[in-house]
Amino acid sequence: MFWTVVLALLILLLETQLCLCLLELRNGGSRSTHFMTSLFSSSSSSSSSSSSNDTQQRLPGAIIIGVRKGGTRALLEMLNLHPDVDVAKAEVHYFNVEEHYQQGLDWYRGQMPFTLPGKLTVEKTPGYFSSPQVPARVWAMNPAVRLLLIVRDPAERLVSDYTQVLHNRLERHKPYQPLEEILLHQGDINPQYKALQRSLYHQHLTRWLEVFPREQIHVVDGDALIRDPFPELQKAERFLGLPARISAGNFYYNTTKGFYCLLSRGRDKCLDESKGRPHAPLSPQAFRKLCRYFRRPNRLFFSMVGRSFSWC
Ligand code: A3P
Repeated sequence: MFWTVVLALLILLLETQLCLCLLELRNGGSRSTHFMTSLFSSSSSSSSSSSSNDTQQRLPGAIIIGVRKGGTRALLEMLNLHPDVDVAKAEVHYFNVEEHYQQGLDWYRGQMPFTLPGKLTVEKTPGYFSSPQVPARVWAMNPAVRLLLIVRDPAERLVSDYTQVLHNRLERHKPYQPLEEILLHQGDINPQYKALQRSLYHQHLTRWLEVFPREQIHVVDGDALIRDPFPELQKAERFLGLPARISAGNFYYNTTKGFYCLLSRGRDKCLDESKGRPHAPLSPQAFRKLCRYFRRPNRLFFSMVGRSFSWC
């Protein structure tokens, strides 16, 4: 009897010890789990690039580099129809504005949308195309990034460029010169005019091709995008390695706007009134001079991209 009681007490003691050990182990385990969690959350909050539902801000896998007034907004919005694409809504101007560039890649990443893993982030900044320092900087960020360049008849582009500047000046009640006065100098084309220089696509593309292989730059026909966007979007999808998800049904011609608008998940979207404004007047003679001026630069551009466009 005595020995039975001693044995029962011993078992009780052992059980208590065992429970204490298990409790200790569990506490230790949960402490380490908590440590891991706080490590993760502290790193994500310091980079401010992670949100609770597993989305993150990611550097772009593709960039629309230009050209200004080529249809860059339309292209971005149209790519955004794709379920695997997320876009930075505003122009970022990271690689071409020194003050932004000096803030580093974390700043750049912070301008991007929150996306789920596997999605493609796209940003557009038309100023990149003609800024000399940009190609090497983009390469340094990611030498595999895919580049989209949307071009348009350079004479039309110039007039559109002028029209935008004119509109901004009028809005701010600033003085302005008529286009012909800036464009022509003693009857000849003024090569110093900035909007003219931005239309010399071959010069800017030369700099990009010193850094990136030709296959990494997809050229979108901006005039074709205006006339019939779907085929241009199919080509862009293929270039970006995306499954074909954009359909002809995503576009409809809006007769009031005079442009294609977008349809997605029952929602209808046209670009705002800053796109497709009536162009500032330019005499047919001046326009012809402009077309003549662009003939040689255009030919050079065609040979660089390996295709031609029916520009004036
Ligand atoms: P215009 O305003 O000269 O017509 P960006 O977005 O690069 O500034 O380019 C603006 C140009 O995009 C516009 O130039 C317009 O012609 C063109 N564009 C192309 N597709 C468009 C669309 N679906 N809706 C409005 N504008 C479009």
